[in-house]
Amino acid sequence: MDFKKNSGIIISVIMLVQVALSQPGSVKPLMGWASWNQFGVNINETLLKNQADAMATSGLSAAGFKYLNIDDGFFDGRNTDGTLKINSTKFPNGMKYLADYFHSKGLKAGFYSEAGANTCGFKYSGQPGGVGGGLYNHDQQDADLFFYTWGFDFLKVDYCGAQDLKLDEETRYTAIRKAIDNTGRAVNYNVCRWQFPGTWVTKVADSWRMSTDINFTPGSTPKWANITSIIDLNTYLAAFCSQGHYNDMDMLEVGRGLTAEEDRSHFSMWCILSAPLVLGFDMTKMSASTKEIVTNSEVIAVNQDTTGLQAHLITDNGSTLQVWAKNLNGKQSMERAVVMFNRSDATASITVKWSDLGLDGAAIVRNLWTKTDLGSFASEYTASIPSHGVVMLKVVGTKAKLKEVFEAE
Ligand code: GLA
Repeated sequence: MDFKKNSGIIISVIMLVQVALSQPGSVKPLMGWASWNQFGVNINETLLKNQADAMATSGLSAAGFKYLNIDDGFFDGRNTDGTLKINSTKFPNGMKYLADYFHSKGLKAGFYSEAGANTCGFKYSGQPGGVGGGLYNHDQQDADLFFYTWGFDFLKVDYCGAQDLKLDEETRYTAIRKAIDNTGRAVNYNVCRWQFPGTWVTKVADSWRMSTDINFTPGSTPKWANITSIIDLNTYLAAFCSQGHYNDMDMLEVGRGLTAEEDRSHFSMWCILSAPLVLGFDMTKMSASTKEIVTNSEVIAVNQDTTGLQAHLITDNGSTLQVWAKNLNGKQSMERAVVMFNRSDATASITVKWSDLGLDGAAIVRNLWTKTDLGSFASEYTASIPSHGVVMLKVVGTKAKLKEVFEAE
């Protein structure tokens, strides 16, 4: 055997395996849909297949929304050998069948579990099958089943039962990550502990929820105040965001009853804050206006920028008139994504100054929602913005202001 020749191949294979194991998720924030916000525990096989069909054919998949995440509502306890049981009335063909179906449509398949023993659905949504349905004492058995046998690509792990058992968060979520990695499958892992869990999570998870639920009554009309309070909570978490590791601001409420202006603002903020973009509306009934919002390629590109930065709050007039910004295309670049956000109850004028973006000299401005070039501006840009609305820009400067670098600390 020509060892020199083959050793190169062997080393390359080892390196590939190592990369696959150490980077199980994607470097970009996840884009997809989850069943919870619209349907709560009222999910079943037909409903989810219909959602998959709609996702694949409506333009959502083409715009980048690939993960179809099954949330709570399928648990049915365990068999005597410990294997997880799935509610066979709702899911007559089981979960491998559904994961295969999603894959056959060019989509990724997402699953849901719990770090403790009993599920959130058991605790809060009348699901007796959630007793003992969590991963606790079943980490490897369940990981093998979900990812190796069934082929799921994503896992959200909730914390209701674990909280009741007073389990240590870091220990539990790290053990689950290990069990996932042991399967050898590339899995995007979401920690759902409803607050920033601690810096350890940035090495363990692809994303982590940093807030309580965006809507405690699935199916009900979204509340604007819940959107803004999650944004406020995320204001100081930019330092924990990096390539492939993101603050999860919860599933989007776009298309579920806010005004079009509010939907656009909500989507803009999730994009510029580099949150996972997980839609929550009924995809079989997507309106033209919702489609226009969630498939805007230039706004989505701000979210999917691989620099791995989350926007900072640049100026704030008493929390009503705000400017948010982040670097695009590299930490040292001259490109900024900007959201000018009018949170007040009346139309207002907002100005963004290039000096606040770390830029000196004139800059070229493009409106991302309308996809129009606005021209070159000497030192600032001002827009009149309706109540609860945004103007979202790409600003390309010519010179950096001194040596200042505008990035996450
Ligand atoms: C918790 C999570 C929600 C949802 C429900 C399901 O409340 O935060 O996102 O998964 O559990 O029961």
